[in-house]
Amino acid sequence: MDLPVTAVGVDPPTGLVPRRVLVTGGAGFIGSHVVARLMLMGSQVRVLDNFSTGRIENLADAVCGGLTEADVISGDIRASEGVEVIHEWQPDVVVHLAAQPSLPTARRSPLYDADVNVFGTVNVLDACARSGVRLIVNATSSDIFGSVAAHELPVREDHPIAPVSPYGVSKAVGVHYLDWYGRQHGLSYTSMVLGNVYGPRQEGGDCGVVSLMVDALLGGRQAVIHGDGTQTRDFVYVGDVAEAIALACHHSGVGTVNIASGRQTSVNEVYDTVREAFGVDEVARYEPLPWSGEVRDMALDTRRARELLGWHPTVGFTEGVRMTVREARRRQTGSHILSPAWALSR
Ligand SMILES: NC(=O)c1ccc[n+]([C@@H]2O[C@H](COP(=O)([O-])OP(=O)(O)OC[C@H]3O[C@@H](n4cnc5c(N)ncnc54)[C@H](O)[C@@H]3O)[C@@H](O)[C@H]2O)c1
Repeated sequence: MDLPVTAVGVDPPTGLVPRRVLVTGGAGFIGSHVVARLMLMGSQVRVLDNFSTGRIENLADAVCGGLTEADVISGDIRASEGVEVIHEWQPDVVVHLAAQPSLPTARRSPLYDADVNVFGTVNVLDACARSGVRLIVNATSSDIFGSVAAHELPVREDHPIAPVSPYGVSKAVGVHYLDWYGRQHGLSYTSMVLGNVYGPRQEGGDCGVVSLMVDALLGGRQAVIHGDGTQTRDFVYVGDVAEAIALACHHSGVGTVNIASGRQTSVNEVYDTVREAFGVDEVARYEPLPWSGEVRDMALDTRRARELLGWHPTVGFTEGVRMTVREARRRQTGSHILSPAWALSR
């Protein structure tokens, strides 16, 4: 399967500020940064989220920027009532971030993963196509490429899709549906292949090696490295991702575009960087990889994003980890901005 790189409506920048933007999954890690960024750029923003992993506290910055209780819709992308806001509010752009984003969860429960990531995505796309949404900006993952040979890194957008995990499969299916809705219904889209996103507000849990390590050291626990730690991923700071998504909302659909740093960073290097940001010299504990068939190395080629969106990453890994650790410490001491009063009843 080849990735559909060229989408309907590849145009130069429109320069138009999107008037109304609906962000599905807007209370999540990436979504909350996107909502704040879009509001700063002058758009009216609404959030659709079922708060399965998202948190109202994540929207504190956006509330300071003018987001109100009425702009936060509690609903499920899998339900017809959930996507009703698209028909009623008629956003000109939909940023689709709501998802089951965890690889381990997808392995434990492929049915749940497919329900949210495939069925939920099709429900959103269908509502967009029926409501005349100008543009959909979608988040997919480098996991759609599966295992890539070393000489093919960094991966370009036209690399064959060959996922090796249920999460990679469900995210790849979303990409194919986007392409179909584009061709069949003229739905213009930008589908962002994200590297490993890290930064403030990422929850530990199953997601994100940086936040897992930060949480461990913050809680006085030993960090765990699965495997020998030489496996690599492409890490990109959440602020850079939010900027890319906000920029995409100000363009016509550009098809598939990689959003990452373009560099491989090993898990051992991640730990050293986190450890240095904390100023400690604890060693990590090595444990076997929980699954066979893990992707060994990953990096994404970001030239297309630079050419079509004028985007490039601005935050280096060391700087991004330092900002993440600083914010995690601030949260631990409770000195972050508190939730709005209306949020407390949720
Ligand atoms: N974090 C990463 O490294 C990364 C990498 C590649 C792609 N992505 C993609 O980026 C997007 C955002 O991921 P994230 O890391 O911010 O995860 P997240 O879990 O913080 O955000 C997902 C949001 O979607 C909401 N949600 C989940 N199921 C829903 C449903 N059925 N209906 C309505 N809302 C629902 C959650 O409550 C949450 O607010 C996802 O599409 C994910 O697959 C993330």
